[in-house]
Amino acid sequence: QRNVLALLEGGFRFVWPEKGLLASGKTGEGRMAPEAAILSELNALFRKKDLIGKRVCITAGPTLEPIDPVRFVSNRSTGKMGYALAEEAESRGALVTLISGPVALPSPPRVKMVKIETAEEMGKEVSRVFPETDILIMSAAVADYTFKSPSPVKIKKGEKSLDLSLIRTKDILLELGRQKKKQILVGFAAETDSSDVEPLLKLKRKNLDLLVANNITLEGAGFGSDTNIATLYRGHGEKISLPKMSKRALAEKIFDSILKLSG
Ligand code: CTP
Repeated sequence: QRNVLALLEGGFRFVWPEKGLLASGKTGEGRMAPEAAILSELNALFRKKDLIGKRVCITAGPTLEPIDPVRFVSNRSTGKMGYALAEEAESRGALVTLISGPVALPSPPRVKMVKIETAEEMGKEVSRVFPETDILIMSAAVADYTFKSPSPVKIKKGEKSLDLSLIRTKDILLELGRQKKKQILVGFAAETDSSDVEPLLKLKRKNLDLLVANNITLEGAGFGSDTNIATLYRGHGEKISLPKMSKRALAEKIFDSILKLSG
């Protein structure tokens, strides 16, 4: 313990042992850290630290719009892109809030997690942190429609067809684009073609600083994939077409681009 303290004072970083069953048969702190934890700490030593003190808010995953207490409508987002962005920002020194819909991914370490289900809940949480945010990245696949009046009780099946009425949700990004002061706003666009027209319209309409567009019909892009093929459109019209890369590598490119905007 004395040696550990001396090393900590000397500026050394530790990958701490884990708690669990030990070779002695006892349980406690003393198991070797998993390889993934050791690799992640090693990586952290070599990372850029150019987001120190920046308050970054990232939304990720799908939203889930209830029909009744049992059923819902959602989409194919897995949250991988948003979680990669949160990990990248944290490793570069940012203070990260990750507002996430229901996904099957572990919470990234040292990130403030806010879990939501509906588009309305997501809107409320984003609006709450927005005034204290420097960079907002909306990578969540927010539902554009929700059910007008979800049933408080389970809908029983009948012989006839069932009509459900949908109403528009609030466009969070559009609203914050109108309110923004010093914040950098980044939006995503999942398109089914590679045309520039829609992304450029979205960039302008939502008053964004950066739009990340991807054609989800391409092999290795879009929902559930570990890779993505994206085109970045910057506020003043510059277009950067990126090749296929891991979502984490794309996250790095997105923050490089954001820092160019603010610097
Ligand atoms: N978004 C949002 N609030 C919504 C819907 C979407 O903030 N209610 C955000 C998404 O997080 C994403 C961007 O807006 O960053 C997507 O833009 P949008 O115009 O909604 O894209 P599409 O849903 O693809 O729109 P369209 O159907 O018009 O192509």
